[in-house]
Amino acid sequence: MVVAPATAKVIGKYAHGISDDLVTATLLATRAPVLVAPAMHTEMWEHPAVVDNLALLAARGVHVVPPESGRLAGGDVGAGRLAAPERIVAAAAEVLARSGDLAGLRVVVTAGGTREPIDPVRYIGNRSSGKMGYAIADAAAARGADVVLVTTVHRPVHPRVRVEAVVTADEMAAATLAAADSAEVVVMAAAVADFRPKAVAPAKLKKSDGVPEIVLEPTPDILRLLGERKRADQYLVGFAAETDDVRENAAAKLAAKRVDLMVGNDVRSEDSGFEVDTNRAVLLDADGGVEEFGLVTKVRLADLILDRVRTPHPRQGATE
Ligand code: CTP
Repeated sequence: MVVAPATAKVIGKYAHGISDDLVTATLLATRAPVLVAPAMHTEMWEHPAVVDNLALLAARGVHVVPPESGRLAGGDVGAGRLAAPERIVAAAAEVLARSGDLAGLRVVVTAGGTREPIDPVRYIGNRSSGKMGYAIADAAAARGADVVLVTTVHRPVHPRVRVEAVVTADEMAAATLAAADSAEVVVMAAAVADFRPKAVAPAKLKKSDGVPEIVLEPTPDILRLLGERKRADQYLVGFAAETDDVRENAAAKLAAKRVDLMVGNDVRSEDSGFEVDTNRAVLLDADGGVEEFGLVTKVRLADLILDRVRTPHPRQGATE
């Protein structure tokens, strides 16, 4: 339960068990974690009564987002202005994450399509929107994991996610392999280009110079590299974007890249794959387990994937 703004009166009543209105009655009745964001004039904020009441609440486990300094309702300036909404949301998310089932788990997620430059203004890219990767990063962070998101696209993200911006497959490989060194789970949801121009033209290619011939070379297969160096305590999730024979192709990639869980998805149907908010997925695990889902939102699929992320981590206390 979040009380924002929390006045000196609400804080005082809550601290002393007075419940004579809807807010304070709910505060006394709830078993949920409580977070208060005080807002009041500077003189009130500094008054010993308010200071003591807040100390009492904090000692009982109530979370406090202190006010900021700035212009107050009366036109004066000082400490007591309600914290910015982003700070309150971040504090609430932090409190909820602490009791999440993935608390303490370190997760790396990749998202978006890489861009491989042709010249200073053009690149080879793909249709990936990053929605699936962001959904996984958001869900993992909300469930308590410490998440690093290596991404080529930029969207609003859960405040607990650390974002690392990259552009090319090479940059994504470097950032992901480095982050994976201190992670128990890596989810490769990005659409990594398989080939890039061998040489990047230093200046814009001109139409007048005729049709260019662009020679390609392979990029690093990040998932394969992660599979090759996988530690016993690591769990690797890959995606297989397929237009045909989803299950068979996903199974082949699972084995070839030493992945623990492969999410096969049909990128040809209109309600699955690139750009849309939904997916049709089949989950294949290294033990031969197969689970097929009908149409689900990417947000829901993110939680279904994370439910299967079984790896030794602090909360499970496993020692493999
Ligand atoms: N992948 C990767 N590095 C690459 C290419 C792919 O890490 N250079 C990862 C993707 O992030 C995904 C998985 O490998 O998790 C499968 O990607 P996909 O494009 O479906 O398969 P490819 O191995 O590239 O095979 P193909 O394109 O021939 O289907």
